[in-house]
Amino acid sequence: MRVTSGGSFYITTPIYYPSDVPHIGHGYTTVAVDALARWHRQAGDDTWMLTGTDEHGQKMMRAAAANGVSPQEWVDKLVSEEWFPLLETLDVANDDFIRTTQERHEESVKAFIQAIYDRGYIYAGEYEALYCVGCEEFKPDSEIVEGTGAFEGLKVCAIHSKPLELLHEKNYFFKLSEFQDRLLELFREQPDFVQPESARNEVIAFVQQGLKDLSISRSAFDWGIPVPWDSSHVIYVWVDALLNYATAIGYGADEGDFARRWPGYHVVGKDILRFHAVIWPAMLMAAGLDVPKGVFAHGWLLVGGEKMSKSKATGIAPQTLVDTFGSDAYRFYFLSAIAFGQDGSFSWEDMVARYHAELANGFGNLASRSVAMTAKYFGGSVPEPGEYTDGDRAVQTLVADATRNADAAIERFRIDQAIDEIWTIVDALNGYITENEPWALAKDDAMRERLATVLYTCLEGLRALAVLLSPVMPASTQKLWQALGAEGALAEQPIREAGRWGQLPAGATVAKIAPLFPRIEED
Ligand code: ME8
Ligand code: MG
Repeated sequence: MRVTSGGSFYITTPIYYPSDVPHIGHGYTTVAVDALARWHRQAGDDTWMLTGTDEHGQKMMRAAAANGVSPQEWVDKLVSEEWFPLLETLDVANDDFIRTTQERHEESVKAFIQAIYDRGYIYAGEYEALYCVGCEEFKPDSEIVEGTGAFEGLKVCAIHSKPLELLHEKNYFFKLSEFQDRLLELFREQPDFVQPESARNEVIAFVQQGLKDLSISRSAFDWGIPVPWDSSHVIYVWVDALLNYATAIGYGADEGDFARRWPGYHVVGKDILRFHAVIWPAMLMAAGLDVPKGVFAHGWLLVGGEKMSKSKATGIAPQTLVDTFGSDAYRFYFLSAIAFGQDGSFSWEDMVARYHAELANGFGNLASRSVAMTAKYFGGSVPEPGEYTDGDRAVQTLVADATRNADAAIERFRIDQAIDEIWTIVDALNGYITENEPWALAKDDAMRERLATVLYTCLEGLRALAVLLSPVMPASTQKLWQALGAEGALAEQPIREAGRWGQLPAGATVAKIAPLFPRIEED
C-alpha cells in the first residue's frame, strides 16, 4: 500500500448501521480513518475521506418496528440525531457522507447490478440456509455454534450469540465461486492487499477452502433497492452497502470523478473483513473495474474481555468520553494505546492514566513551560538562536528522523507507530530542558545567547510537533500553533517537510497559552 506524494488517496470507513446509536467502536474506526486522511491531505495528496450509513435490510426493519415507526423515519431520526453529530463530537473532517437511501446511491447500485447481470454473473436459484440478522449474513459453518442458556438446543451466531434463522427462498445468485483463483492470484501478486498479515492469512485460508455462490437478493421483505429486472426482489443489503464506495464517488453518474478517486483504501473492523477482501473485489472484477488498493482490518475494542457491542449492552457512547477528556484526547488515546490491527481493551482507568502521563505531563507541560519561559526571559518573542552544540544538533536530527519514520508508519497504516515516532520528540525535548536548565542559564547574563538557543530549540521542536500531531489532535495543535506565532494555516503545513529545522522565524510573537490538557479531577 504505497502512496506517492500528490497522488490520489481515497479512504473509507465502513458505513455503519443506524439501527442503533454509535459506540466507541464506531468512533475508533472513524477517527483512525480521519487521522490517515488528514495526514495525506496535509502531505499534499489528492485526498478524499468517505463515511456514511447502511440503511437497508432486516436489521433496520426490525429496529424501526420495535420503535413503532417506518424504516425511513427510523434511519432519518438516528442519522440526524446520532450519526451526523458523532462526526462533530470527534472532530472528523470527512469530505462526504453517504446514506444508502439516497437516490444517488440507489440509481447507481441498480446500474451496477444490471451491468454484472448483463455480463452473465447472476442467475436465479433456490436457497436454504441459516441467516444472522445481526450480521445480515448467511453464516458459513465455521461461524455457527451451539446455543447456551436461553438458546440451548438452537444454532447461534458465533459473533452475536443470538439464534440463527433458517431461510428458504428463491434468490438471485452471484457467481462468487468463479473468482476463487483470481482472488488468490490477487493476494499473491499484491501481498499488502489485505493488512495486517494475520488478516491476510485468514482471508487466504477462507478462499482456499472454496467459495460458494452468493445469494444477492431477498424477496421476503421490501426494505431495500429493487432488483432492476425483477421488482419482487430487493438487493441483498451487503451488496447494496459495499457499492457505496463506488456510488459516492460517481460510479454510474460522473465517470470523471470516479476515475479521479478510484481505486481507494478501505479500513474496516475485522468482523467485516471477508465482505471487503473477498466479496467486494470479486464484484468489482465481475464488473470489469479495478479492485481496491488495499483493505486494512483493525482489531476489536474489548470491554471486560468481550467485543464491545450494542447488542450485548457493552456499548459506551463516544460523547461520554469526550465530555471528560475532550475530542483530541479521545483521538489520541485510541490511536496510540492500541496497536492498529490488534484487539485492545478499553478501561476508564487506563485512559485517565495515559491522559495524565502523556498528554498533561508530557506534551502539554512541554508546551506550557516553553511558552512561559519565552514570555519570562524574552518578553514573548521567539529568540534568535546562537551557535548550535552537538546536543542541539542531536535534537534536530531526531526531529528529522521522527518525521520520516512517522510518514513511513502512516504508509503502513500504523498510526500507533507514527505516534510513537512523534513522541520521541516530546520525550527528547523534555529531557533537553532538564539537561540544559534554562532557568539556571537565565541567572547568568553571559549565558544569554545560550539561553536563546535552548529556548529556540524547544519552540522550533514544538512547531514540528504541532504540524506532525495535527492529524491526530487537530484542536490542541491549533491552539499551540497560534501560541507559537507560527506563519500560515496549520492544516496547510506540508507534513513531510515538518522535520526541516528552522522554520519558526525568530521575532515571532509567542502568546500565553492555557493548559492544553488540564488535569482531570477524579471523584
Ligand atoms: O457492519 N471494536 O456496520 P456496523 C472496534 N453496515 N470496532 C468496532 C467495534 C468494536 N467493538 N464495534 C464496531 C456494519 N466497530 C455494516 C458495514 S460497510 C460496506 C457495511 C466498527 O454498524 C468496526 O469498524 O455493525 C466494524 O467493522 C464496524 O464498526 C461495524 O459497524
Ligand atoms: Mg455489527
